[in-house]
Amino acid sequence: MTAVSEVPLTAKHRGKTAPAKLAHVVYKTSQYEEMIEWYRLVLEAEIMSASPMVTFLTYDEEHHRIAIANMPGLQERPFQSAGVEHCAFTYACLDDLIYTYERLQQSSIEPYWTVNHGPTLSFYYRDPDNNQIELQIDVFDNNQKVNTWLEQSDFASNPIGVIFEPEALIARYRGGESLDTLLARPVIDPADLINHLPLPPSG
Ligand SMILES: [Fe+2]
Repeated sequence: MTAVSEVPLTAKHRGKTAPAKLAHVVYKTSQYEEMIEWYRLVLEAEIMSASPMVTFLTYDEEHHRIAIANMPGLQERPFQSAGVEHCAFTYACLDDLIYTYERLQQSSIEPYWTVNHGPTLSFYYRDPDNNQIELQIDVFDNNQKVNTWLEQSDFASNPIGVIFEPEALIARYRGGESLDTLLARPVIDPADLINHLPLPPSG
């Protein structure tokens, strides 16, 4: 077994001046009300400040985690264009992630991709403008364990993940299966990886 890469020190511990945190994401949209409502609902956010031009939303101690800028007449972004692929939000535990999945189902908000990446279990959603967000939990409780998994699993032949059926996973969880087996990423034939990728948005 090969030695696992060391986890680098934080920039602060390397004596560097780096950002203290990742602050927020700003979306520009021509579907202003729909976007505000979607992020408010999906992230259980509250509106900190609203105006006809921009709305700030937050769900924690930050003033705003999401801002929505109202810009009528924008063009739709082609799915194949370069840019941000998705933004990810981590929940504290599997209970919270499942609760959120089921809560959003009640508002007909369904994930387009549910995948076990290995280090995370992830539900991916598209907002009204087809921006993509990932709601996830961390499978491992520290970065050394993530590095160990990345280097000792089949990650080299499958750097994407293995899809799962949410209802089946929830049934296993509620049936008392341990997190160790529930969250362990199955090994698949690399030739089958194409069947585990997300589909582009329809329409
Ligand atoms: Fe991600």
